[in-house]
Amino acid sequence: MSIIYNEQNQTISLHTDNTTYQMKIGPLGLLLHTYYGPLMDGDASYGIIYRDHGFSPNPHDTGRDRTISADTLPLEYPCEAAGDFRAPALSISTEDGVLIGDMRYQSHRIIKGKYSLKDLPAVYAEESEAETLEVTLKEKFSEIYVTLQYGVLPSLDVITRTALIENRTDRKIILNQAASGSIDILSGEWDLIHFQGRHAGERSLERVALGHREELVGTRRGVSSHHQNPFVIIAERKANEEYGACYGMNLIYSGGFSCNAGTDAFGRVRAVMGIQPEHFDYPLEPKETFQAPEIALACSNEGFGRLSRIYHKMIAEHICRGPWKNKQRPVLINNWEATGPNFTAEKILSIAKKASELGVEMMVLDDGWFGKRDDDFAGLGDWYVNEEKLGCTMGKLAEDIRALGMKFGIWIEPEMVNEDSDLYRTHPDYALQIPGRDPVLGRSQLVLDFSREEVVDHVLDQICEVLDECKAEYVKMDMNRPLCDVWSLNSDTESRGKLQYRYVLGVYRFMEKLLERYPDLLLEGCCSGGGRFDAGMLYYCPQIWCSDNTDAIDRIRIQYGTSFGYPVRTMGAHVSACPNYDTWRSTPINTRAVVAMEGTFGYELDLNHISEEEMNEVKDQIRTFKKFGSLLHNGDYYRLTDVMNNHQEAAWMMVSEDQSEAILNIVVLDVTGNRPQRYIRLAGLDPEATYTDPVTDVVYPAAALMSIGFPIPRPHFPGTEWTRGAAEYEAFQIHLIKN
Ligand code: DGJ
Repeated sequence: MSIIYNEQNQTISLHTDNTTYQMKIGPLGLLLHTYYGPLMDGDASYGIIYRDHGFSPNPHDTGRDRTISADTLPLEYPCEAAGDFRAPALSISTEDGVLIGDMRYQSHRIIKGKYSLKDLPAVYAEESEAETLEVTLKEKFSEIYVTLQYGVLPSLDVITRTALIENRTDRKIILNQAASGSIDILSGEWDLIHFQGRHAGERSLERVALGHREELVGTRRGVSSHHQNPFVIIAERKANEEYGACYGMNLIYSGGFSCNAGTDAFGRVRAVMGIQPEHFDYPLEPKETFQAPEIALACSNEGFGRLSRIYHKMIAEHICRGPWKNKQRPVLINNWEATGPNFTAEKILSIAKKASELGVEMMVLDDGWFGKRDDDFAGLGDWYVNEEKLGCTMGKLAEDIRALGMKFGIWIEPEMVNEDSDLYRTHPDYALQIPGRDPVLGRSQLVLDFSREEVVDHVLDQICEVLDECKAEYVKMDMNRPLCDVWSLNSDTESRGKLQYRYVLGVYRFMEKLLERYPDLLLEGCCSGGGRFDAGMLYYCPQIWCSDNTDAIDRIRIQYGTSFGYPVRTMGAHVSACPNYDTWRSTPINTRAVVAMEGTFGYELDLNHISEEEMNEVKDQIRTFKKFGSLLHNGDYYRLTDVMNNHQEAAWMMVSEDQSEAILNIVVLDVTGNRPQRYIRLAGLDPEATYTDPVTDVVYPAAALMSIGFPIPRPHFPGTEWTRGAAEYEAFQIHLIKN
């Protein structure tokens, strides 16, 4: 039993193998949060000190007792308007704009297995792997109910949360905010770690001290965005990669979100995360319900490394689905950086031919094959093959690619339409726009109203015709602009928040239907690079293009940030041409491959244009990836350097679950003359064992590798015994086998 209700103490404890989460049905039925931390048996509510906090308001039914205040108690699902002035999780108003909401415990039940959500992605588990707790709160003065659902996955050390809000009154109410979950922490000094960025610069780790103010991260863009990621960590001030307490909050949702975190006047921390409340105003008619997206919580007392590995396992095994979830993905080549939208079938075949000779397994045809798509001003929405441009049918191109022994994939951007398209000319009402106003353009395109089923179905039918013809094994699903003009010309939605929410459900519906129809399809997410890299998308796409920035050195930082919340095997990463089209930096092709192997691994260039020597390297790279693919993708992942602060070298490693082998990856970032020897401290090895590097036959005691470290190699000058310091941007990949 992982969920235990103690009737005497009125506590409900949620136990995973290594953590405990506890709540208490407190005075007046207020649902209090008492504990989240290492496994614990007992009642942690002693930590809540009841006293008059000085002018903090009290519920009316406390009478003369001023020690009970929603403003100072740690709450499970804090509601605005009940005397709590900190960041709320729930905010409700009547139609006339009156804030209401005094939520009190009503009942709870414990159910075998993990709950699932209708129309929304969520962590899934076998019945024997999880338990569910449902706690129902009722508004004191009305028939408004909130059911808090908790999924407990003991062996994963994950607790999921969500909230279902029900209007059983006979009047419409407005949800100003309905977060997925919150955490109240009673003591200590804490930081917020979040992952900010921009196009071609996603998920840069930023750490800010939580002081007596509220920090707000999130996005108004309607997609989870390049600019912030819906994954945050609340970390003890002294926590680092291997040490200290930290909590992860991973929101399984792909639309606008926010996380509000701060310290209150008495030094207690609250973090609230969910759909972005700004302009949410979700109307809930009598008998209607609103389901908040799920959030996955995890807690580590051994720093960020352990926290990340919890999420890696959760996402790889309990979010990603389908036949590709555990299968090694094909090494692919994508034509985008080589050709842009200007290509013919002949050109694509020439790229594919050389790639197949070098061992690449799949050709992906990117943007430009449909409608009048010769540049990015036209064509989106017209999902019929431009045979004139291609010079043949899609079926014929796919057949020719398969004749080379390769699989075939195509690019789509189903949520979009260009004004210059047949779809827009026929159905302008399909696009989100405000009557009487010019819509805002993004990459010269408009967003289709995916909150409407007929719009989703129309696009899906068109795309399926092409897929039926070419029998693509892979689809890259892109999305290249944020949502503005959030108004539907023909919809029953009446608030920006409701429309955006239903838009996201429409995107999920599109992907679900696509996968129902093509169950073996490998779907890769994309959003101008990594602008929608979130656990919600990973429920449908087991991999997401991490960034349009394919510069190996920039990618190290982008993939480093991404690795905090997401596993390596979900990160789309390719070797591209040098100098890099964006940074104009040149790096050795080996370095580009080592970095791309910290991801799904593939190529994004015309391999006809590289030297013979590089072609041989490509062959070797593919052989290496095939040999170590399982270790690279399924091994436990360890970040060995802090790439935000260490500018000398970057290193990471993967260790097999049984610790029998490991792969160490090092990229030298900066060099100086007569450089002191640098060492990389390894992690995750069996400390009592020795490991051999089969290339040099050197035997290393693991304990020493994890304290002195592994010396950064000094390559030989060709044909001599003399060695040199590693060069700038030189990379090393070292296989270690346990003896
Ligand atoms: C943005 C993506 O991130 C690129 O990889 C490419 O697919 C282009 N869109 C195509 O328009």
